[in-house]
Amino acid sequence: MKYHVKSLKLADQGKKRILWADGDMPVLSQVREKFAKTKPFKGLRMSACLHMTAETANLARTVKAGGADLLLCASNPLSTQDDVTASLVRDFKIPVFAICGEDRKTYYSHLKAAVDHQPHITMDDGCDLVNVLHTKRRKEAANIIGSMEETTTGVIRLRAMEKNNQLLFPVIAVNDAATKNLFDNRYGTGQSTMDGIIRATDFLLAGKRVVIAGYGWCGRGCAMRANGMGANVIVTEIDPIKALEAAMDGFLVMPMEQAAPVGDLFVTLTGNKHVIRPEHFRKMKDGAIVCNSGHFDIELDLVGLKKIAKNSRRQVRNFVDEFTLSNNHRIFVLAEGRLVNLAAAEGHPASVMDMSFSTQALASEFVVKNKGKLATRVHDVPQAIENKVANLKLKSMGLKVDKLTPVQVEYLSSSTEGT
Ligand code: ADE
Repeated sequence: MKYHVKSLKLADQGKKRILWADGDMPVLSQVREKFAKTKPFKGLRMSACLHMTAETANLARTVKAGGADLLLCASNPLSTQDDVTASLVRDFKIPVFAICGEDRKTYYSHLKAAVDHQPHITMDDGCDLVNVLHTKRRKEAANIIGSMEETTTGVIRLRAMEKNNQLLFPVIAVNDAATKNLFDNRYGTGQSTMDGIIRATDFLLAGKRVVIAGYGWCGRGCAMRANGMGANVIVTEIDPIKALEAAMDGFLVMPMEQAAPVGDLFVTLTGNKHVIRPEHFRKMKDGAIVCNSGHFDIELDLVGLKKIAKNSRRQVRNFVDEFTLSNNHRIFVLAEGRLVNLAAAEGHPASVMDMSFSTQALASEFVVKNKGKLATRVHDVPQAIENKVANLKLKSMGLKVDKLTPVQVEYLSSSTEGT
């Protein structure tokens, strides 16, 4: 078996972490037990370009139990947990191509390995694998039955491809499932982003001014958690509806230009480029901390920051780089502007990834069952899968919901009853 991981010597620790995470992924465990019996992926090759975490390892075990010939590669150069990849190779016999801190060339060589695997099904987190299949490796794209996309940024890229008639195979927007974004994007990103910032800096949130750029589900989660820890939250937005929502959720709303001089900590979660630029860095207080929790490392204009800094980057702590500007104000950038929650912490907790990855696994089964029947476009996750995941999660939490009475069913289906 070919693979490229940091060191198999790390596998003992990785295995413990995978099994620990599994204890908090009861829905995925049930899907795995079912797949082990039904083998929905028998005879099929699968390549998955995801964050290489303990939670992903449990998804990998699940599709492998379903008969898939699976290969994994990283969806971000800094999010790989090297102990986990070691255990995946040694203990679970799953080939992995991912090393934490890999350079761009290695990152793309790992994506190449994922395409060389000649997959029938792909899973992506950010659309890099699908992008390679659509640009450099179109021959291999012909074998693909369908692909799953895990994150907002990836779905944006895919919808653009669909609009431009470039898409070569059907894709399921797992990110857009309620069982994914309402929980993973909101509670997962909210908690893990604060976790990454605190682990990197030991920052006290209480009493600080925290600027959250972007009020999508991830931004909402971060604002909620920063607020819960006593920060004064400021939201910046470009969308008037989201801005209003932030205001009525109790946060200050203002443009980045106004937020820059008052913020102590800045977190970008917009999915867009250059959200914090030199004109903003120049206005910041001495000691301002800046980080990103959006998918790509483009939200902070770090090239621009380097141009206006007096010094070259100085690492003052793990995951913290200091830049001093001509006004002698120091700006601290976390995790090189990459996803702070996955680089400086462990990503979202297993309990919430349980829902995202059960949705992923069941969406993959759906794609295989509907081979040749799905149009070449971006599809939503079927409602039946969402309901299944939600019901199993509720059950695992010991929670029950009410049932409609016959009178209520009738009321909902009639239009005659009024005032
Ligand atoms: N994305 C965010 N958190 C994650 C995790 N723990 N595992 C995989 N992907 C993630």
